[in-house]
Amino acid sequence: MPMLRKMLLPLLFPVPVLVLAMPQSVCAADAAAGRKLAEQWCAKCHDINKGAPFKLNPPSFASIAVYRPPDIILGKVITPAMHSGMPETLWTLQREDFENLVAYITSLAEN
Ligand code: HEC
Repeated sequence: MPMLRKMLLPLLFPVPVLVLAMPQSVCAADAAAGRKLAEQWCAKCHDINKGAPFKLNPPSFASIAVYRPPDIILGKVITPAMHSGMPETLWTLQREDFENLVAYITSLAEN
């Protein structure tokens, strides 16, 4: 039995680490603030409106909301593809702004 415990103990350690590493709740973010940021920073390239048709390069926010989960959207906003022309936002916006943007984008998936 002590042998078994020795083997199981290391398996328990990663759990708290994973919980801490999880992104902060996107639900707490402010979609209305995200909409304002989107108008200011994103609308010159993306169609940011609710119910916008599917479009590629750049995709409309409404279509991104359907085909990407929130954590992937967050990742793509924080570290955009270099050829997208988006990197300028990286230097200006705060973590909270990114979360609000993601809250706005994901809200577009609801009918
Ligand atoms: C200069 C034009 C431009 C601006 C401004 C811009 N984008 Fe983009 N964005 C693009 C292009 C082009 C792509 C597609 C690039 C790719 O994925 O290869 C893209 C891709 C994305 C994606 C990934 C889409 C996918 O396929 O998963 C997200 C999310 C996104 N943009 C969000 C934003 C947000 C939020 C803003 C405002 C803060 C913004 N973009 C501003 C041009 C722009």
